[in-house]
Amino acid sequence: MKPLAIDVEAVGFNYGDAPILENVSLRVDEGEFLAIFGPNGGGKTTLLKVLLGFIKPDRGRVEIFGKPPSAARRHIGYVPQILRFDRQFPISVLEIVLMGCLAETTRWGVFPRGYKKRAQEALALVGMEEFASQSFGTLSGGQLQRVLLARALMGNPRLLLLDEPIASVDQAAKEEIYRILLLLKGKTTIIMVTHDLQNILKKCDRLLCVQRCATLMQPEQICEHFALGLYHIPLVR
Ligand SMILES: Nc1ncnc2c1ncn2[C@@H]1O[C@H](COP(=O)(O)OP(=O)(O)O)[C@@H](O)[C@H]1O
Ligand SMILES: [Mg+2]
Repeated sequence: MKPLAIDVEAVGFNYGDAPILENVSLRVDEGEFLAIFGPNGGGKTTLLKVLLGFIKPDRGRVEIFGKPPSAARRHIGYVPQILRFDRQFPISVLEIVLMGCLAETTRWGVFPRGYKKRAQEALALVGMEEFASQSFGTLSGGQLQRVLLARALMGNPRLLLLDEPIASVDQAAKEEIYRILLLLKGKTTIIMVTHDLQNILKKCDRLLCVQRCATLMQPEQICEHFALGLYHIPLVR
């Protein structure tokens, strides 16, 4: 039996009185590629934050590689949903990528051996090596996402969580991001939130529709209604 990357059982979470996640259960095998979709405000980002241990659920159990999320976090790479930042802030692309191995620095803040080479390799993987010394604030949307992906890959994660990485990028960057994900597929467990159902269907292993509750689906159960925002339970079983 393959080891489980994610084991979530009957998770519930409220913001104040508002139920955001309800009775969410999910098991993901190591190496699986799971796509998450669903309406805006449905709880997709919240679920990723639960997996990261940034949010503690009110009910239920979460294990990542058999451990509580906070203990497994160094095995997780995370690309957050649209990053708003000060474009004037003086930080280079290489420095952004180096932030991906902050968890490995010593208590004096010393980076691990070979860290610059690893950052360069991560940038090369996403086709951004020529931008290493450029200011992060000057990049286009697609370039930003690729650099954030390089940052997430810096720590050689066993689990990669991506929150709408292709939502605001041009076609070329979208294809580039898909190309990288397909390189990682099968080796790294990938969970990607996206509205690009048509393309993701051919790439992912399974899908999870999150609208407070979560429904697992096979690619063949995805209905064209979903692209119109009309989410419903699978009609084919
Ligand atoms: N920090 C917060 N405080 C209160 N409500 C929040 C907070 N973050 C998100 N929400 C609410 O939780 C719901 C789910 O949000 P989110 O997980 O971001 O949805 P999605 O990613 O599917 O669009 C939304 O109704 C949103 O308004
Ligand atoms: Mg979201």
